[in-house]
Amino acid sequence: MSARSNAAQRQNQLKQAVADAAIDEIAPHLAADTIIGVGTGSTATLFIKALGKLKDRFAAAVASSDASAELLKAEGIDVVDLNSAGTLPFYVDGADEITPDFAMIKGGGAALTREKIVAAGSTTFICIADGSKLVDTLGQFPLPVEVIPMARSYVARELVKLGANPIYREGVTTDNGNQILDLYNFMIEDPVAMEDTLNGITGVVCNGLFAHRGADILLLGREDGVVRSERRASNA
Ligand code: A5P
Repeated sequence: MSARSNAAQRQNQLKQAVADAAIDEIAPHLAADTIIGVGTGSTATLFIKALGKLKDRFAAAVASSDASAELLKAEGIDVVDLNSAGTLPFYVDGADEITPDFAMIKGGGAALTREKIVAAGSTTFICIADGSKLVDTLGQFPLPVEVIPMARSYVARELVKLGANPIYREGVTTDNGNQILDLYNFMIEDPVAMEDTLNGITGVVCNGLFAHRGADILLLGREDGVVRSERRASNA
């Protein structure tokens, strides 16, 4: 096996470990009427598969993407609309990058807008991530910006004025019928301020900075095991 496929296999094992840890985190709190918010991506997919084994212990899930909704249904889990679910006790999802302050870049899978909505509607955001996702400064991973299609070029010009290098993610249409601009090598010193700045551009639907509402609990898969940490009160 090549070094690269070894590394990928190891990363997958770490994703599995944090998915299992998230199950341990929520299992004591499940009740017949519990509805769980569920994210999108490869780590969230492992969580969904593990969640299937508990399907008789809670009511339903709210999915952050059509893809995750299909995976949940395949596990025999009822999927309900956020509008009929009320406040969710937990939202479990991965991240593309996360800082020690629990601000994140998300949206590598283009599901950022629904992820941000379901996260906003949840009391506790549990981020499940392998150790490679922990960074001091966000921005090495391209930051996704979801735009209304007719605004794409205008928004791109505004992003260039901010010093960004927006690249249209060709061939991708979000679940909301929109398009994605990815900002490459755009290092973000103040994620809360930048989240606001990007949201202030007309035609932007959402951006992949989860800073105002970051994670509450991080389950980080490291070589020496899963490390659980909670967001510091000063950032609450
Ligand atoms: C989906 O749009 C993303 O926000 C994912 O949560 C994020 O990209 C993490 O994905 P992986 O678990 O596949 O790394």
